[in-house]
Amino acid sequence: MILTVCKETADLEKRVALTPEAAEKLNNNGVEVRIEAGAGTASSYNDLAYEEKGIKIEPDRKKLFSESDLMLAVNTPPEEDIRNMKPGSVLICFLWALQNPELVALLKKQKITALGLDAVPRISRAQSMDALSSMSNIAGYRSVLIGASELDRYLPMMMTAAGTIPPAKVLILGAGVAGLQAIATAKRLGAVVEAYDIRPVVKEQVESLGAKFVEVPNVDEDTETEGGYAKEASEAQQQKQKEVMHDHVSKSDIVITTALIPGKKAPLLVPESMVNDMKPGSVVVDLAAEQGGNCEVTEAGKTITHNGVRVVGPLNLPSTLAYHASQLYAKNLMSLLSLLLKEGKLEFDFEDEIVHHTTVTHDGEIITPMLKNDS
Ligand code: NAI
Repeated sequence: MILTVCKETADLEKRVALTPEAAEKLNNNGVEVRIEAGAGTASSYNDLAYEEKGIKIEPDRKKLFSESDLMLAVNTPPEEDIRNMKPGSVLICFLWALQNPELVALLKKQKITALGLDAVPRISRAQSMDALSSMSNIAGYRSVLIGASELDRYLPMMMTAAGTIPPAKVLILGAGVAGLQAIATAKRLGAVVEAYDIRPVVKEQVESLGAKFVEVPNVDEDTETEGGYAKEASEAQQQKQKEVMHDHVSKSDIVITTALIPGKKAPLLVPESMVNDMKPGSVVVDLAAEQGGNCEVTEAGKTITHNGVRVVGPLNLPSTLAYHASQLYAKNLMSLLSLLLKEGKLEFDFEDEIVHHTTVTHDGEIITPMLKNDS
């Protein structure tokens, strides 16, 4: 079986799907691993590092795709590459199938077995395969570093001969995987941290990291889906939330927003009126910029100054830590492959909840319940 890794083509993308160490582990028992020339260079894994682990470097991208039995990638490869893949071959990467019906139609037509890492169910057994969490963790960490470097103030309290500086106030909106990591990072840097999430169940997690949980009286009875994600808030809930948030946002030095609703535009948590009431020199880092932004004045991919407030809308933060992001992503992939690879052959047991949910297309059919509305 030929297992291949291609070079990523998306703008700003520096990650690679397999590190040399991960590729070496897979390159045995009837599996031949090939990697596209230069695929790991942007994440500091050069071709030589792969060659030293016995991995074949392939300069011809078309050949790489057309001879592949199993293609591993971070993002979905361009349509032209998918058309070069053999019927019956397997593609594993982030697919975002719900948002990409044309891609799903192409994968069906090409009879490609496509697995989406974004579709791995969030159950305990699948935690080691959860690339969404590994990448969100990186985004949360990086967001605090961005906030700190944009801020013209200290984060920790400073007692110096020239006077005492109080610690900065950091507010995290959305305490999922990224938000919790942002809390931990801001605490390590000595800031006073507050956090809010629509799911009251995270209060304990926020407090266990040493942050204060901002309480918003709950108008909605049910704020969480069975899968642990947030539900869209009602209008009354959103209004209540705005009132409480306005007070906390205006007193913060850094506001980091991470609130997302799967498959929907990001909720608006920081309207322009709140930014207008922030202190000059404060910073907003909007991790939801790619999904429309949690802050009304965010411009995706840009850092702007609005009324003296720096508003950052970063894109693809995991890629800014490409070395470790690739290492963790490769581990997630290896863990998923351990379910599928049996003595050098791929086997798909659709009775297995993880395989069932993660497989988007197989043999011209849709497999994942996510696209069938029966889950
Ligand atoms: P996400 O990236 O979809 O959302 C980020 C956060 O924004 C969530 O905590 C969500 O509640 C919050 N949010 C949404 N709308 C909001 C609003 N209007 N105001 C304030 N906050 C809002 O979620 P993420 O981080 O990918 O994971 C969500 C949860 O899934 C985790 O916190 C965890 O409970 C669960 N999970 C479970 C895993 C498992 O293996 N059991 C693995 C990873 C996550």
